[in-house]
Formats: sequence, structure tokens, C-alpha cells
Amino acid sequence: MSHLDDFPSTPGKFKMEKSPFIHSRMRWHWQSSLAKLSFWSLIFMGVIFIFFFRSPSSNPIAQDPSRRSLRTYNWGGPVWEKRVRSSARVLSRNGFSVLVTGAAGFVGTHVSAALKKRGDGVLGLDNFNDYYDPSLKRARQALLERSGVFIVEGDINDSALLRKLFEVVAFTHVMHLAAQAGVRYAMENPGSYVHSNIAGFVSLLEVCKSANPQPAIVWASSSSVYGLNSKVPFSEKDRTDQPASLYAATKKAGEEIAHTYNHIYGLSLTGLRFFTVYGPWGRPDMAYFFFTRDILKGKSIPIFEAANHGMVARDFTYIDDIVKGCLAALDTAKKSTGSGGKKKGPAQLRVYNLGNTSPVPVSELVSILERLLKVKVKRNFMKLPRNGDVQFTHANISLAQRELGYKPTTDLQTGLKKFVRWYLGFYSDGKKAAE
Ligand SMILES: *[C@@H]1O[C@H](CO)[C@@H](O)[C@H](O)[C@H]1NC(C)=O
Ligand SMILES: *[C@@H]1O[C@H](CO)[C@@H](O)[C@H](O)[C@H]1NC(C)=O
Repeated sequence: MSHLDDFPSTPGKFKMEKSPFIHSRMRWHWQSSLAKLSFWSLIFMGVIFIFFFRSPSSNPIAQDPSRRSLRTYNWGGPVWEKRVRSSARVLSRNGFSVLVTGAAGFVGTHVSAALKKRGDGVLGLDNFNDYYDPSLKRARQALLERSGVFIVEGDINDSALLRKLFEVVAFTHVMHLAAQAGVRYAMENPGSYVHSNIAGFVSLLEVCKSANPQPAIVWASSSSVYGLNSKVPFSEKDRTDQPASLYAATKKAGEEIAHTYNHIYGLSLTGLRFFTVYGPWGRPDMAYFFFTRDILKGKSIPIFEAANHGMVARDFTYIDDIVKGCLAALDTAKKSTGSGGKKKGPAQLRVYNLGNTSPVPVSELVSILERLLKVKVKRNFMKLPRNGDVQFTHANISLAQRELGYKPTTDLQTGLKKFVRWYLGFYSDGKKAAE
């Protein structure tokens, strides 16, 4: 139903269709004199110039009525390649060259900025879909652009684009954060979860396994894979076969797909199970974000209770702690072992909880926001609907602590204070309020 499901798999293809013409001219002028050669070079440059700067109406995809509804992304061309190369250029000694998918997303923006800051080469990729207000994604893009990170506009299920990116840059690492997020939205648009979290992930792994050298991949799984488990805290070894939402099921599928690509092709893969990440530049579909908006509008706030009057709680994890975990996962990732699409030896396969180990009831979240926003909140107690949300999450992070040196340091009160400061600044002075 959304544009997500309707885009051409090879949007750059039409550019290739003209190349035989250019090539025949090329072959012809190789036989002529040096003077003629420079003459034809000029013509050639002219053709290239007209070709890349022609009006959009000459785009064959736009002219084809059967494809008019498709969302197209413009990529390719020498100017674009130059931007890609320059963004991915490594500036520090022994730095990485990282492709960050979902770079205009919440975690993607923060991770991209942190990598760039320490001198790694960073290239972003994002489809800027409208699951939530795209103007927030554009604002994050502007933020990254100022620090020299270019975000390619395109979809992770577009294999031609992914192959092109690996042709232009020999990425050492992929930080795969692009995903269809959200638990309840899956009932509205299940296809988008399959598209991004399954088809898109497979497309990405296909290109990675064929790349030479193969990159190491760190990717975002989710705490939701623990589903209906009641044993707390959640440990990596616990069962993950009873997801409560399609979102959780696609993330669990991703973990199994990762196992396959590691086993068959020798790809180094690290999955990170994020626990309710929050902070400045966060996602408007998350409770802490829309509670803030609704409290400021004077609306009442629903507080869910479990059937047995049990509290609903989340292991809220501050973005800066998550970023440290992501960078540590990249830094400790071993190289992939395959080449030419063939496995040459066993490769690293890991999964880590990245949480805060301190679950907070949602009612407490509301009380903290009430104090920070200085607005008396109208609470509306309701039963937790059975539409994907679980009652509580609580991470055991001892594995990440031991192997990544991961140690979260921000409590919810401190983190929300920073979020609220950002929110009030971002949505003040004429900027429209969050939808
Ligand atoms: C993903 O891309 C492949 C081909 O590259 C296509 O066959 C498939 O339909 C796409 N999947 C989705 C869910 O868009
Ligand atoms: C946390 O997980 C580790 C294994 O990584 C385990 O040894 C430990 O007992 C767990 N802690 C709790 C409180 O469940």
C-alpha cells in the first residue's frame, strides 16, 4: 500500500541504455588522429553533461505509465560518485570505511556522527520513507551533512544500488540499522516489515557476500525477540521463539538469516538487541516522544496496565550508551573470511543485548516528563491491549560488558532531561510541532 513496496529494483538502469551509443563513438574515434580525438572528447563530455543534467521529463521511467506510480531514487553519475567516495574516505590511521544503512534514522544519525568524528569514513544510505515525519529525517540529514557525511537516497532492497556502492567504495564494515520499526504499525502495513527487515536484509547480505573484500557486518536486532518470555533479566541464551509481534518475528528471522550467511559464506555478523532506545533526535512513534508532545498539548496520557494489574516497564537505554555499544561492536568485529562468494574458514557470529539493566515502569516515565515539562498530567489507566507490546523488558548485559566493554551510564531521569531540552529547542521558534 505504501511507496515502500513500489519502487523499481534498478532505478539507475536507464542510464546504461544510452551507453552503446557512446561506446560506438568511442571505438570510432580511437582510430582517428589526436586532434580528432580531442574534438570527439569534447563532444563526448557534452553528451555526458546533457545526459546528467537533462530535465526530469526525459527520464524513461517517468514516461512509462505502468511505472509512473513507482518511487524512483536518482543515483549514479560522476558527481554522485565523487560525493560517495569523499564521504567514505578514511581520515584516521587504521580507520574504517563504514556503510551505515538507515543513516537518517535515530540511531543511524548518532552512530554516523560518532564514527565520522573519530575519523572513520562514513557513507549513509536511507530511503527517507514517511513511516514518521520525513522532515525530522531531513533535519538529521542536514546535521550529518555539516559533519561531512553524505546520505545516499535509496532502498536496501535495491541490489543494483548496493552493488554500485561496493564498486565505488571497498567498505570494511557495514552498520546495518535500516529497518521497519514499530510494533503496532505491523497490523496496518505488514508488507513493509517483510520488505525492509527480511527482503532488504537478504539483498544487503547477498551483496556483502559477493563483495571483495567482504565487509564485517554489525546490525540492529531487537529486544522484542524475547517476546513472551517471563524469566528476567533477558539473556542472549534465552529462548526467542515466541515473538509477540510481526516486527519481533522479522527481527528473529534476521538473526536466523545472519546465521545462514555466516555459515555458508563466512560473513562476520554481529546482531545487537536494542532495548527501548531514547534521546535527542529520537523517533516520534516512541512513547516518551509522543507523551512529551501530548503532555505539552494538554492531552491525557494512557498508562497501560497488564491484565493482573502488573506494571508495564521498559529497560530504557540512552542513545549515547547505545552508540558506544555500536562502536565497540564494530571495533571488536573480526574480518569476514570468505572471498569470491565462497567461505574460506569459520567466521565470527555474535549477538548482544544492549540495554540499561534497569527497567522503569511507564507510569514513572510519565512522572519524570511531568516534572521536566512542568505540566500536570491527566493519566488515563488502561488495560494493555494484546497487539504486540510485551509487559516488560529487562536486559542482562553481562555478555556485552565482558566482550564489548559495554557499560551504560545514563539513567532515565538524566537522559530524558537531555531529550526534553532538545525537543523544546527543535520544535520551538516557528518549527511545526511533531505530528
Ligand atoms: C526486493 O528485491 C527483489 C529483487 O531485487 C524483488 O524480487 C523483491 O520483490 C523485492 N522485495 C520486496 C518485498 O520489495
Ligand atoms: C546474565 O547472563 C550471564 C551469561 O552471559 C549469566 O552467567 C548470568 O547468570 C546472567 N545473570 C542473571 C542475573 O540472570
